[in-house]
Amino acid sequence: MTSPSARRVLTGITTSGTPHLGNYVGAIRPAVRASRQPGVQSFYFLADYHALIKCDDPARVQRSTLEIAASWLAAGLDPEHVTFYRQSDIPEIPELTWLLTCVTGKGLLNRAHAYKAMLDKNAAAGADPDSDVTAGLFMYPVLMAADILMFKAHQVPVGRDQIQHIEMARDIAASFNHLYGEHLVPPEALIDDHVALLPGLDGRKMSKSYDNVIALFGPREQLRRQIMSIVTDSRAPGEPKDTEGSALYQIYRAFADDAEAADFARAFADGIGWGDAKQRLFERIDAEMGPMRERYQHLMAHPGEVETLLRRGADKARALATPLMRELRQAVGLRALDAQVVAVRGGDQAKVGLPSFKQYREPDGRFYFKLTGVGGQVLLQSRGFESPRDAGQAVKRLQTEGGAALAALADRLEPVADTVSPDLADALQALQIAQQG
Ligand code: TRP
Repeated sequence: MTSPSARRVLTGITTSGTPHLGNYVGAIRPAVRASRQPGVQSFYFLADYHALIKCDDPARVQRSTLEIAASWLAAGLDPEHVTFYRQSDIPEIPELTWLLTCVTGKGLLNRAHAYKAMLDKNAAAGADPDSDVTAGLFMYPVLMAADILMFKAHQVPVGRDQIQHIEMARDIAASFNHLYGEHLVPPEALIDDHVALLPGLDGRKMSKSYDNVIALFGPREQLRRQIMSIVTDSRAPGEPKDTEGSALYQIYRAFADDAEAADFARAFADGIGWGDAKQRLFERIDAEMGPMRERYQHLMAHPGEVETLLRRGADKARALATPLMRELRQAVGLRALDAQVVAVRGGDQAKVGLPSFKQYREPDGRFYFKLTGVGGQVLLQSRGFESPRDAGQAVKRLQTEGGAALAALADRLEPVADTVSPDLADALQALQIAQQG
C-alpha cells in the first residue's frame, strides 16, 4: 500500500463506445504515463453505471467494457501498481450515491450542462421539456461525485466538459461535511493543456460523431487503409507542403519526438508526395501500436483474464470503500441500535460514533470550525479564520497531530480549560487513530 500522504488521482471512462486513436493520444497514453509517476496513487475505473444513462444496448455495454479494459491494459496500465476496477463491482458506490443524493440540492442539478442541453433541445423542438430526460441523466453528477469521493481523490484528470461535474462533487462534499463532519475530501479537476487534440481523417477533431476516427487496435491493414484516406490538399509530389493546418502532420506530431517531427517537417518543405508521407505516418504509428495490438488481441480473445484482473482491482478498491462506507453510515445515523454511541479509545471501535469537526461561516464573513463529541457536546471552538483553507488546515493538524496540536494552535482557538478535558483528549486521539486507519 502506498502511504496515506500520496496524492490520489482518479478517473473514470464511460463504457459505451470503442476507443479510437484520439482517445489513446488524449486520455489513455497520458494517464498511463502519469500513473507511473512516484508519489501518486492512481485509480482508473470503467464507469459502466454511467454507461446505462446513455446506452440501453446490453451487448454494447458489455463489449465496450471489455474493449476499454483491454485497451488500457494493452497500453501499459499496470494493475499491480494502480487500482483498476469496474464501477458496478463496488456496491458501496450506489450506496454512497444515495447518501449524497440526500444532501444535494435539486437546484444544483438543474444547472448541470448536460441536463440543460437536453431541456434546450426539447424547447427548440417544441417538445415537452422533460422529453427523453431520465432521472439517471439528472442524477449523473451525483453518481460521479460518489465515484470520486468514495476514494478521497485529490485530483481528477478530465476534459474541459467535465469541469462542472468536479465542481459539483466539491459542493456535494462540502454539504455532506457541513452536516455530518469532515469525512469527505473535496476534489480538484486536473486539466492537461499539453495533450494533443488529435484531428480525424477529415481534419476536424477526431470523434465518433464525425465518423472520422482511426481505430485504436484494428488490424494492421485497416490502420494502413485509414491513414491512406486522410484528407490532404491537391499538391503534387515535388511541391512544398504546409505542416500548418495539415491533419497528417498533426497526427504524426502526436507520435513523434522533436527530432522526428523536425525531420518530417523538412520532408514536407522538400515536397514529399502525400502517398509517401502517409506511408511514413503509418509506419510511425504502427511502430508504437504494433506490440500493444498483439496484447490487445490476446486480451479480447481471453476475456476471462480481463475479468480476473478487474475482480482483483475491485477487491483493492473495496478495501477502501467498505470502511469509508461504514464510517459514513455511522455519521448519518444508520447505526446498529445496540451500538454504544461513545468515543472509544482505539481499535476498530474508534470508527463507532466518531467525534467530528464542522466547518462553517459566520455572518462576520469569517470561517470557523468546532469539534463536536458523539453526544453533540462542543469540545473545541475555533476563532474566525480569513479563509476556509486556513480553517481547514487547522482542522487537518488537529486530526493528524491530535492533542499535540492544541498548544501550537492556542491563539486560533477559544480557550479550553487549563488542563485539557479527558473528553477532548479522547476525541482527538480517536480522530488521530481513525486518520491513520
Ligand atoms: N463522466 C465522465 C466522462 O464522461 C466519466 C466518469 C464517470 C468520471 N465517473 C467519473 C470521470 C469520475 C472522472 C471521475 O468522461
